[in-house]
Amino acid sequence: MRSVKLTEAEVVRVDLGDRSYAIEIGPGLLVHGIPPDIVESASTVIVVSNDVVFPLYGGAVLAALSAAGRPARSLVLPDGEAHKTWVTLNRIFDELLAHACDRNTLLIALGGGVVGDMVGFAAATYQRGIAFVQVPTTLLAQVDSSVGGKTAINHPLGKNMVGAFHQPKHVLIDTDVLATLPDREYRAGLAEVIKYGVALDAAFFDWLEANLDALNAREHRALAYAIRRSCEIKAVVVAGDEFEKNRSGGRALLNFGHTFGHAIESSLGYGVWLHGEAVGCGMALAAGFSASRGLLCAADHQRIVALLERAGLTLALPGIAPETMIEHMSRDKKNEHAAIRLILLDGIGQSRADVSSPNAEIAAFLRG
Ligand code: NAD
Ligand code: GLY
Repeated sequence: MRSVKLTEAEVVRVDLGDRSYAIEIGPGLLVHGIPPDIVESASTVIVVSNDVVFPLYGGAVLAALSAAGRPARSLVLPDGEAHKTWVTLNRIFDELLAHACDRNTLLIALGGGVVGDMVGFAAATYQRGIAFVQVPTTLLAQVDSSVGGKTAINHPLGKNMVGAFHQPKHVLIDTDVLATLPDREYRAGLAEVIKYGVALDAAFFDWLEANLDALNAREHRALAYAIRRSCEIKAVVVAGDEFEKNRSGGRALLNFGHTFGHAIESSLGYGVWLHGEAVGCGMALAAGFSASRGLLCAADHQRIVALLERAGLTLALPGIAPETMIEHMSRDKKNEHAAIRLILLDGIGQSRADVSSPNAEIAAFLRG
């Protein structure tokens, strides 16, 4: 039985036909537990987390499952982006096979985007696909990575280069867990929140400008709205273009700032800059490049830079040679016929995919 009444929780739906699911958002949801209809049908339940998050929240998740009559096992992986690899992924398969887990096994991803992406990929591929639930514990994972079914691991030559689309059965967002999130991680999550406003929703951008101080102070009401609005925006985009087939817009727009950002992450080595930090810098670069092409007006460019700075993000490209950036950007998953596909801005909330920028022009822009 679910033991806590959902008084303050909100639900956002991701509409994908028979793969639709709910995102529950609110305080105290870990204790409340995962909806019974999802756990009841599982033959085995395994909570997969890491050695930072499991000691904090693993007990609450396991206790809720026990209270629901579904005692679960746990698997604790090493923490960090540097462990988003084949080696760590294989530990999930080892666990599943060592316990002869069948296709009705349910995996629960408890952690940030690294755990969520790896558990999702394990679920996508184990015995050709099993069910999983996302219980995101970072701001970034709550507003972005836990929703939409992109799963992956990194390759030394490229970020998230090996993966699959595989939707979760449910997303459980307990806003209370953000209380223990380190400041640097929190700011990295704010970058993805800001992304939705800059790329897709001018009204949300206005709201962020008005409420960034409250978000910096982690005020519950502002945070709850920012998480819900981000999930709503992402849910609509994913429902319209689940597999990122739309070449001029659609889901690719959620990658605003990521072409530069992923190149920063893989150039520096995974984990040196956090994903959200790299995306924050990448958004400033994408906005600056849009302005340099005469697409984005100076006033909007300045507003974007100012908001990112207020969120405490570093906007100067770390010491990476433009040629190295171009090399990494040339391997981006959005590219087509060797042309780098950038998400550019015509205005705040008005983004589009573009392949018309020659590499030399991007490199010249990066050189300053
Ligand atoms: P992360 O998973 O590494 O978590 C950040 C750090 O915070 C880790 O050390 C983690 O153990 C710790 N942590 C997590 N929750 C905590 C809590 N409540 N209290 C204290 N510490 C906590 O990083 P992230 O920023 O969550 O995710 C980044 C990853 O997400 C990247 O690999 C990125 O590629 C991926 N991502 C995927 C998608 C997608 O659509 N699938 C979207 C965006 C990002
Ligand atoms: N984070 C980008 C996407 O889910 O498409």
